[in-house]
Amino acid sequence: MSMRLWQVRRHWDLFARKDPLWAVLVAPGKEGNRWALDEFFATGQNEVDAAMATIRTHLPGAGRRRALDFGCGVGRLTQALAHHFDHVTGVDISTDMLAHARRHNRHGNRVDFQHNPANHLGRFDDGAFDLVFSLITLQHVAPEYSRRYLAEFMRICAPGGAVYFQITARATRPARRSWYPPTVAKKIWRRINGFLLLQPTMEMHSLPRAEVESVIRAAGGEIVSVDSSHGAGTAFESCVYLARRA
Ligand SMILES: C[S@@+](CC[C@H](N)C(=O)[O-])C[C@H]1O[C@@H](n2cnc3c(N)ncnc32)[C@H](O)[C@@H]1O
Repeated sequence: MSMRLWQVRRHWDLFARKDPLWAVLVAPGKEGNRWALDEFFATGQNEVDAAMATIRTHLPGAGRRRALDFGCGVGRLTQALAHHFDHVTGVDISTDMLAHARRHNRHGNRVDFQHNPANHLGRFDDGAFDLVFSLITLQHVAPEYSRRYLAEFMRICAPGGAVYFQITARATRPARRSWYPPTVAKKIWRRINGFLLLQPTMEMHSLPRAEVESVIRAAGGEIVSVDSSHGAGTAFESCVYLARRA
C-alpha cells in the first residue's frame, strides 16, 4: 500500500535531518552531505531559467507578480524563481525541509515558506498566483494525491497564468515478479521501517499522460506543451507540462 501523507511527511522530515540536499537532488557523489551549496543552488537557477524561457515563449502574457513553488524542499527552485517574480511562496509537507529553506533564503520577505500537510491547497485563494511551479515532487505521492494537487494548481492559478510541473508518466522497467525471498523480505522490512522509521525512503509514483491531461482539462486548464524530462532517472518516463488557466 502507498504511503499516506502523514507517512510521506515523516520520511521527508527524516531526509531533511540526515542529508537534505542529496534527498532533494540525488546525484552521483553527492550522498552524505557532499553537495556544495553554491553548486546545488546553481542547478535550481539553471532549471528555472530554462523553464521561464519556455513559459515566455508559449505564454508571453502570463503575469510576473506571484509564483508558488509546490514541494519546495530547501528552496532550490523557490529562490531561483525570485529572480523572475516579485514574490514567491514555497510550500512543503516537511517542516524540517522548510527550516533549511528559511535558513538559506537570500531574498528576505520577497520569499515566504509555508507548511502544508494537507491533500489540498485550500490555504490559497482562487487565482492567487501567476505561476504555479512544481518539479520532482508530484512523483513522490500516490496518484490519488497528485490528481487532487493538479486540480488545485489550476484553481489557484490566475486566469491567463501558467502552471508548470513535472510528473512521471510510467515506469520503463517491468516490476519484478519474484515472490521469495526478496519480495517477502522487502515487505517485512517496509512494515518494520514504517513503524520505526529506521531509514527514510521516497516512493515513486506515476500518472499517465492521458490522465494528467484529463485532470487539467476538467479543472479548467489547457495543456500548452509537454516535454520529456530526465528528472526521475532512467527507470521512469517523466514529463514536464506547461498548462494555461483559461
Ligand atoms: C525531491 S524534493 C524536491 C524539492 C524541490 N522541488 C527541488 O526540486 O529542489 C521533494 C520535496 O517534496 C516535498 N513533498 C513531498 N510530498 C509533498 C506534498 N504532498 N506536499 C508538499 N510537499 C511535498 C518533500 O518534503 C520534498 O521537500
